[in-house]
This record gives sequence, structure tokens and C-alpha cells, in this order.
Amino acid sequence: MAKITSRYFCKECGYETAKWLGQCPACKAWNTFVEEPVAKAAGSSAASGKKPIRQQRTRPVKIDEIKLIEEDRMDTGFRELNRVLGGGIVVGSLILLGGDPGIGKSTILLEVARNLAAEASKSVLYVSGEESLKQIKMRAMRIADISGDLRFMTETNVENIVETTTETQPDLVVIDSIQTMYTESVTAAPGSVSQVRESAAQFLRAAKENGIAIVLVGHVTKDGAVAGPKVLEHMVDAVLYFEGEAGGNLRILHGQKNRFGSTNEIAVFEMNADGLREVRNPSEMLLSGRPENASGSVVTCGMEGTRPLLIEIQGLVAPTSFNYPRRTANGVDYNRLNLLTAIVERRLGIDFSKYDAYVNIAGGLKISEPSTDLAIVMALISSWRNIPVPDDVMIFGEVGLSGEVRAVSSAEQRMEEAARLGFHKIVMPYYHKDRIQFPENPDVEIVPVKNIREALTILKK
Ligand code: TYD
Ligand code: MG
Repeated sequence: MAKITSRYFCKECGYETAKWLGQCPACKAWNTFVEEPVAKAAGSSAASGKKPIRQQRTRPVKIDEIKLIEEDRMDTGFRELNRVLGGGIVVGSLILLGGDPGIGKSTILLEVARNLAAEASKSVLYVSGEESLKQIKMRAMRIADISGDLRFMTETNVENIVETTTETQPDLVVIDSIQTMYTESVTAAPGSVSQVRESAAQFLRAAKENGIAIVLVGHVTKDGAVAGPKVLEHMVDAVLYFEGEAGGNLRILHGQKNRFGSTNEIAVFEMNADGLREVRNPSEMLLSGRPENASGSVVTCGMEGTRPLLIEIQGLVAPTSFNYPRRTANGVDYNRLNLLTAIVERRLGIDFSKYDAYVNIAGGLKISEPSTDLAIVMALISSWRNIPVPDDVMIFGEVGLSGEVRAVSSAEQRMEEAARLGFHKIVMPYYHKDRIQFPENPDVEIVPVKNIREALTILKK
């Protein structure tokens, strides 16, 4: 009989111990340890009478023996997704696509699979452990015609999948999802930490040995009922997260880790009845539906990786009906909002203690950049005074504790994006005034400010 022992795993990061712990020593999360049965690898193969499979030995090579092949990236058919990946899917790489259930992971991967097969003449294997072939077909019919070498398979046994993959040698394999996969080398149930980790390790091996790109889908669940994809993050070459507002149709694909490109790039998509459509001009889309001449609405420019993104910050200041005023931050950091209200109170002498303050980023985007500080401050004051900031003004800058407006990175790019979308006035840190190379533009007036008091002049009289 195989010797089955229990081990304890952190659901968050996969840290393994022999006994239960209250706090994970690796990721410091509390109450994340789960018990899972583990059969020792040697024990289980002895019990089944099979010889343990030994991997082929690899030979050490010198750096000039390593050949770099030019054509080592595959075009996904989505320009934006290619950019997030650093230029396309790298041949032989293992990619993790995480996201809440129902956000559109299967949809985007089906579209990528279709594009690769139909337009780039690649062969693709789409393995689903969650849906029947019929369900896949129904989804495919919504999206577009499927042609080329794209095959589907419903299977959850990792050994079977790896065998099929090695035999057929497709260019891309999609595993939807890693939580449904099951390897015989571990006794724990599918979705458990040790299963997810061991299954992924086998896919990793298959990817590297055969030069096949593999995309793993990983569900993120709030209650942590199944192992979170965090366990996998350090195994894979790239981690992408698909995010969006529940109910909304805007989807943002975020690069969190990338061994073959830069991180923090985003791609914006719109979920339509016929699949996902990439939004090539997200600033325009994020600003559409912006209220005209409304107090509390301020446009700023955040940077997502190398891309400037114009966003609307909405502030609402209203008399409180509680003993303690409420502070609510949606899309911006809550502590930052508290800090900024404190700065405004102290430096401008505005008493916010009897007022609730709400700040929201329209479109469900999250921005954690201090360059939005000045816009947040202006949104709050504009709402409090009930005076709108003119519609054609874009504001950016970090705010320091003395109320001073401080320099930020990529000032030119932010200004260019604003000019491109027809903004006529840019309020920005004084520091940049003589340091930036921004071509003279008669249509764009630059208003450099040293502190928040100076920025107030922008409010309409
Ligand atoms: P799906 O890709 O199945 O999500 P995931 O794999 O991340 O769990 O997407 C499911 C949602 O997307 C579902 O609510 C229906 C919606 N959807 C569309 O709006 N349009 C479409 O063309 C498709 C295929 C799905
Ligand atoms: Mg799915």
C-alpha cells in the first residue's frame, strides 16, 4: 500500500509544512493552512508496481551554443494582448491567466486559439476540464468561425494530456482550468494545493521539453475554497490577470509577471455579445459618458506600464449624518484618501470633519499612483464648493504633506495624451515647467502650480 501521510499547505502561497500553523511563515497570511493527504512519490509508484520514471539527463552548454531563434513569438491576433505579453506568446513558455469565475478567461483564450489557428497557421489544443464539448461549441459559435488546426478535448488527467501533447506537438495548449486537473502522482483531490502545484509542474516540464506554449487558466476565489493561482506564480513565465467590474462590460488584462517582457502593462477589452473586442483607445472609452460641467469630476492621467490613461476621478463631499464622517475610496487607495483630506483640512483650512467624502474612478479602474493626488484633491474641493472644474482641463501631480505639488514620472506622455484627446489646459507640477520637452501647442495652455492653493485658481468663478 502507498504510504499516505498528511501535509499542510498554505492556500495563498503553497508553503508546505508537516504541522498546522496559524500564520504562514512565507507570506504571513493567517488561517490559510489546509491539510492534504500526500503519498510519497516512491511509495506510490512501488505500490502500483510501476518503475519511477526518470527524466532524461540534460547536458550543460556554453552560452554561444544556445541558439536564439528569430521567430519565437506567436501573434495572438490581439495587438493589445501582444503588448502585455511583450510581443506575443513566447514559444515554449508557461503562462498563467488568473481571474474571477465568469470574467471571460475561457472566452479570450478561445479567441486567441482561433486567431492562432486561423490566421497564424498554428496548431492549437484546447483542453477543458470544466465544460463539455457542446458548451465549448456554443461559445465558439458566438465568437467567430473557427478554421485551421484547432482541436478540443475534455480531459482532466494530466498524464493523458501530457501524452497527447507530446504526441501531437501543437504550438499552443490551453488548460482550462488548472484547478480541475488531476495528476496520479498526488493523492489529494483536484483543486487542492498539492494537486495544482504538481499538475502545473508537469505542464511546465512538457512545455520546456517540447517547446510548446501552455496557458493555464486559474480561478481566483475570495473564500479560497480552491487553491489560489498564487501557488503557481513563481513557477510560470508570465502571469496575467483578467479583471473587471461585476456587471460592467469593461475588462482589463493586467501583466503581473513576465520573464519575456515588461510588467504592469495593461490591455483593455470590452465584452460584447459576440466575444471580446479590444479597446485600442482606452482613454476615449474611459471618458465617454462623463458628465458635462459637473462639480467633483476631474480628469487626470495615470500610467499603466508604458501607457498613459486618461481617467475621470469623481469626488463627492456631503454633510455627514453620522458621528464619524465616512471616507470611501473606489479605485484609489483608502489611506491615500484619508491623507489627502487631512492635507486639505490643514493646508487650506477646510473643515471636512462634518462631511462624508467619497472618491471613485469611473469605469471600475484601479490606480495606485500618487500622480492622481492633485486630481483627487481638486475633485473633493470642487464638490465641496460645488464649482466645476472646466471640462477641458487635465490635472496631474503628487501632493506632499505641506500641500506642495510634486513632480511625477512620464510628464510628457501624460501631457501628450491629454493634448491628443483635445484637452486645452493642463494643470501640472511646477517642477516640470522648464524641464519637459513638450512641443509648443497653441491649443494647450500649461498651468504649472507649486501647491494645492495655486491649483484652486482653475475652479470656475
Ligand atoms: P467565460 O469566458 O466563460 O468566463 P470564465 O472562463 O472566466 O469563467 O465568460 C463568461 C461570461 O461572459 C458569461 O457571463 C457570458 C459572457 N459572454 C459574453 O457576454 N459574450 C460572449 O461572446 C461570450 C462567449 C461570453
Ligand atoms: Mg471558463
